[in-house]
Amino acid sequence: MSAIIVVGTQWGDEGKGRVVDGLAREAQLVARFNGGDNAGHTVVAEGHTLKLHLTPSGILYPTATCLIGAGVVVNPERLISEMDELAALGVDTSPAHLKLSAAAHIILPTHRALDGAREEARGQTALGTTKRGIGPVYADKAARVNLRAGDMARPEHFAERVAESVQAHNRRLKEQYGAETLSPQPIAAQYYEYARRLIPHLVDGSALVGRALAAGKTVLCEGAQGLLLDLDHGTYPYVTSSSVVSGGALAGLGFGPQQVSRIIGVVKAYTTRVGAGPFLTELLDETGEQIRKVGNEYGTTTGRPRRCGWLDLVILRYAVRVNGLDELALTKLDVLSGLEQLKIAVAYERDGERVQPSVAEYFPAEFGVKALAEWRPVYEELPGWADDITGVRDRADLPAAAQEYVARIEELVGVPVTFIGVGPEREQAIRQ
Ligand code: IMP
Repeated sequence: MSAIIVVGTQWGDEGKGRVVDGLAREAQLVARFNGGDNAGHTVVAEGHTLKLHLTPSGILYPTATCLIGAGVVVNPERLISEMDELAALGVDTSPAHLKLSAAAHIILPTHRALDGAREEARGQTALGTTKRGIGPVYADKAARVNLRAGDMARPEHFAERVAESVQAHNRRLKEQYGAETLSPQPIAAQYYEYARRLIPHLVDGSALVGRALAAGKTVLCEGAQGLLLDLDHGTYPYVTSSSVVSGGALAGLGFGPQQVSRIIGVVKAYTTRVGAGPFLTELLDETGEQIRKVGNEYGTTTGRPRRCGWLDLVILRYAVRVNGLDELALTKLDVLSGLEQLKIAVAYERDGERVQPSVAEYFPAEFGVKALAEWRPVYEELPGWADDITGVRDRADLPAAAQEYVARIEELVGVPVTFIGVGPEREQAIRQ
């Protein structure tokens, strides 16, 4: 009986898919608990590189059943196209292997249109969303007007309700934003077909997880995005609309906290962010450009260049507290190779003073982005390393400066690093 939760500790794109992929071989169920097709991870199957947005990262392991949980919002068109792409490569996406919680909410094209219209209306203050309809569909979830995956069980009725929802969204598009409306009938017809296709995949997700845990199986809970994009604990309003933290796994999948055996926080060796909002350690210089280039820091979902900066341990300590992290998985350490000097933010200061008590433990998210703008990072400098580390498989074989970098993170954050990514390939990692 054990659930392992994997969460992002920064602004997403930490390489969670990679870490989940490594753990999935020992899991019997891999379950995604939040977000929608705003997320993206890259998988390599049969020599083909696929960008997946909804399908859990465990899909390549025939031994693990995959579940899209109740906390996820589903674009059925995307899900079906991913299933088709994977199936073409010989990956099992049958209902026996890939399951969809009946309580997951359904994204309509008009949710996407509303996302785009709202961003446009915001002008200069746009959030930089992925325009996948995430904000509007979670808003409709809270307003209790959405369709859920379970509604697809009666396709005719589902299609009728799709048409009604599209009409309701159209009114908002027209009246609130003066935006183009979408024709309800073709969408209803499309969603009828999606429903017929997805019915065999529908399950009671919470019951599936509960049965697996009761049978002593390992359930791997896969989070999307990262702590600072969390709706409650992130840099609001520059956040996504779901619960990204470890607690979100319990709510999003429907099981209790006593079942959790490990909580793993994934942290990139530096920091990136896509979209607008505060980023204290952002590098707007050549070093930032080098990290972006070497780390290939361009969005999986939107292709946008990611903003890059130094690692921020104030954020990481915040992530440890909010998620109850037991372990850290440090990714992309190899990207820092070749930088002469490295910096890590160890605290923040305001008006030239480190404000006590214990600013070091404090990430000022709750008072909003205006308060955050008053803070500056306090850096510690560490030596860099020149050597290529992509072939290293034992932590003791890393250059001394790289070992020091990892050890300093552990020391200042108080959580062990149990995984170090030293290259993009599956085997390019140090595990302990
Ligand atoms: P939304 O989730 O599309 O509403 O976008 C809200 C914010 O979250 C934007 O800044 C997006 O760039 C960011 N975001 C959403 N999903 C991801 C992700 O998977 N990685 C990184 N940023 C993301």
